[in-house]
Amino acid sequence: MTTGPILAVESSCDETGIAIVEDGRRILSNVVASQVAMHAASGGIVPEVAARAHLRWIVPTLDEAWAAAGVTWNDIEAVAVTEGPGLAGSLLVGINFAKTLAYVHGKPLVPVNHLEGHLYAAWLADETRELPEPIFPLVALIVSGGHTFLVEMRDHLQYRLLGETVDDAAGEAFDKVGRLLGLPYPGGPEIMKAAATATNHDVVFPRAWLGETFDFSFSGLKTAARRTIATETDGTGTSIGETALSPDRVAELAYGFQESVIDVLVTKTLRAALAAGARSIVLGGGVAANRVLRDRLAAGAAASGIPLVVPRPSLCTDNGAMIGAAGARRMEAGARAGLDLDARPSLPLARR
Ligand SMILES: Nc1ncnc2c1ncn2[C@@H]1O[C@H](COP(=O)(O)OP(=O)(O)OP(=O)(O)O)[C@@H](O)[C@H]1O
Ligand SMILES: [Mg+2]
Repeated sequence: MTTGPILAVESSCDETGIAIVEDGRRILSNVVASQVAMHAASGGIVPEVAARAHLRWIVPTLDEAWAAAGVTWNDIEAVAVTEGPGLAGSLLVGINFAKTLAYVHGKPLVPVNHLEGHLYAAWLADETRELPEPIFPLVALIVSGGHTFLVEMRDHLQYRLLGETVDDAAGEAFDKVGRLLGLPYPGGPEIMKAAATATNHDVVFPRAWLGETFDFSFSGLKTAARRTIATETDGTGTSIGETALSPDRVAELAYGFQESVIDVLVTKTLRAALAAGARSIVLGGGVAANRVLRDRLAAGAAASGIPLVVPRPSLCTDNGAMIGAAGARRMEAGARAGLDLDARPSLPLARR
């Protein structure tokens, strides 16, 4: 694929991301302004606060991305932007910004599905290590704050949904259980850190297998964790940064919870890959930043003789480069948005 540099804008949730990506693969610059520290104070995302933070940071983010890439508007082939899914107010900031840039500079506007961005992060070249390009047919597990699903791809931009969560997303479960354990927001990375310090691995939480399906469920696990924590703390001290549990016990419970989530994710992904005759497995979305998930899936994929492609952690969580990677494919396929482009908060990626 040969496309010139694409300017990509991501603002679907709580990261303002602007990147310049060439050929859907080479990152010329990728700047992310994260609101995580701000939302940590409230223990989660307040949509209006998130939208206003995008408004505040989007121009400085562009300035930094622009300076780092060393290109001019003459070099830019198109402007790609996340149209959904995500928070409406957050999406609108990025969409309006991208629209204005496309209009003023006379560039095509390419709409991108945020989840397709998480998937196409696997095509971004990584100067920090060898990363093979995914090969079709492939099976991809996307695990993020709002989504958890398995898709099969037999070619670019072709998706068949194999299974999805019937309730909470894996990242959402990490965040909620993190909060119950008194860990700071977001819970995902905090649970990973706490679990790594556990010396006792006896805590076992239930796994929701849902028979032979490729669907997932994490709400029962969350309830089981909540009950255990409530019993052990008499229901006290479960607000942010405060828990009646000792740090050792928090670590043990975090370990038990993380094992339960990862066991189901890895087992189902490997089974789906074998059933589909996959020639590669792709892992993406914010939860793919989890070291234990990455290592466990890598080991299983290696044992099955199927290469695993997983972007480095900073490309798994929300960023503009992944929108540039998907945007290049979409542009090549002729996707264009008019200046009437609107946010699509519930945009799906694939059907069964
Ligand atoms: N190391 C980690 N271990 C587990 N979970 C993690 C880790 N790092 C990040 N996460 C989780 O990833 C999620 C954020 O991912 P991402 O930024 O892709 O989500 P989102 O954009 O909010 O959701 P979506 O992509 O579904 O719209 C959070 O739930 C966070 O806790
Ligand atoms: Mg995301």
